[in-house]
Amino acid sequence: MTPDLKVEIAGVKFENPILTASGTCGYGEELADIYDLSVLGGIVTKSITVKPREGHPPPRTAETSSGMLNAIGLANVGVDKFIDEKLKFLEKYDTKVIVNVAGARVQEYVDICARLADCPRADMVELNFSCPNVDEGMEIARDPLLAEKAVASVKKVFGRPVIAKLSPNVTDVALIARGCEAGGADVLSLINTLVGMAVDIESFRPRLTNNTGGLSGPAIKPVALAMVNKVYKAVKIPLIGIGGITSYQDVVEFMLCGASAVQVGTALFVEPDAPVKIIKDLKKFLIKRKLNKITDLIGQLKEY
Ligand SMILES: Cc1cc2nc3c(=O)[nH]c(=O)nc-3n(C[C@H](O)[C@H](O)[C@H](O)COP(=O)(O)O)c2cc1C
Repeated sequence: MTPDLKVEIAGVKFENPILTASGTCGYGEELADIYDLSVLGGIVTKSITVKPREGHPPPRTAETSSGMLNAIGLANVGVDKFIDEKLKFLEKYDTKVIVNVAGARVQEYVDICARLADCPRADMVELNFSCPNVDEGMEIARDPLLAEKAVASVKKVFGRPVIAKLSPNVTDVALIARGCEAGGADVLSLINTLVGMAVDIESFRPRLTNNTGGLSGPAIKPVALAMVNKVYKAVKIPLIGIGGITSYQDVVEFMLCGASAVQVGTALFVEPDAPVKIIKDLKKFLIKRKLNKITDLIGQLKEY
């Protein structure tokens, strides 16, 4: 028996549910030097903005116990160069391409997504409403009405599925999730990083020039699982789970909690080919559990 790893999300067919997380593998070029990107279910590209951005000065990453902090500040090549060079590079691969988009105002999301609407290789867009490392943009992450408006405005210009990426840095993630669903989001992805800080006891300075950063990696997995579980019960649209995934066991946990697919982020810094290993191990797990298809796992958590 060969277990079926295919998943279909908002009408888009993925060979398997393992995607890379935005910002953790640039535009795929460096990963492509290590393995064939076509093995991935999909690749989510670094957030792009209207204009190129340099980001924050270094140091902008720091290691912490079971996780990392980053305050990259949305460094990216800007939408023009992204379409001309980066998207063209990704066209060579037989994998789904999800373009992550960031902006300070709703109009910026709309402007970028209108451009991407003319690029058939952008299978989906993922709206980053949740970067904790720039001053702008966080209002959309925290205000369900604004999130609804942002999604609805993008839906008018981008004819393919729209993912809204949620922030954990809110009082009630389900409220924002419902706002995005009301705006017409096809999919939700969660979570982005949690606001955190690290301090150097020699210099008495924060370890990031931005003072605070976003915490990611295994440290945030329990938070992410709880949020996926909560949002799964709050909305009807599919979810993509993100947060500390390093192994097939983590993927199974997220799928049981309601995720239809997952994104692997910080793990890529430790083991760039973690997704390849996870895909192989997932097949073995399904065989061991006598499951024919991975979709049999989605939302099957037996809660007490
Ligand atoms: C260095 C770094 C850069 C990131 N840049 C982005 C980004 O540009 N856009 C975005 O939506 N998320 C960004 N993220 C967040 C990840 O996509 C992901 O949501 C988060 O790291 C949690 O997953 P993980 O624990 O598997 O890394 C970044 C994360 C890291 C570690």
